Amino acid sequence: MIRTGLGWDVHRLAPGRPLILGGVTIDSEIGLEGHSDADILLHAVTDALLGAAALGDIGMHFPDTDPRWKDASSSVFLSHAAKLIRERGYRIHNVDTTVILERPKLKDYRLPIRESLARALQLDLDCVSVKFKTAERVGPVGEGRSAEAQAVVTIEKAVNQHE
Ligand code: C5P
Ligand code: MG
Repeated sequence: MIRTGLGWDVHRLAPGRPLILGGVTIDSEIGLEGHSDADILLHAVTDALLGAAALGDIGMHFPDTDPRWKDASSSVFLSHAAKLIRERGYRIHNVDTTVILERPKLKDYRLPIRESLARALQLDLDCVSVKFKTAERVGPVGEGRSAEAQAVVTIEKAVNQHE
């Protein structure tokens, strides 16, 4: 049995904030605002995982009103979602993602981000894809006021044919 999950996230950008994407700190004068470390890429992948197994969303599992999650590393959210998936008998097949950010350029970070996601999800590197886009200077992302991330994951459960 194969299932697909979709995730999306957006956070505001602000000067002096860290820019952490997929668990990797990017050299940048602007970064993402938010409760927790505001890692939009990990948030999108976490929601995609939860979505694939119809387990709700990130806010349901990690409410931002809960002081336990203040400044929590988003890798904790991701690992928890992956654990829930595995406990239900699923195997994560592959992950494809896009980060939409006007600047800085991210392409030099593609491999470290893929490696970080692969490590967190216990996947081979070739099962993890990370893509980058600008918003062509249009809208809040294009004007550098926010950044977005999208993720799709495929998970698989072995089905016993005699059941
Ligand atoms: O958005 P656009 O199509 O102009 O992006 C062209 C390429 O620039 C992307 O395919 C990506 O490799 C790279 N890029 C990047 N960092 C960004 C946005 C885009 O490295 N923040
Ligand atoms: Mg978020």
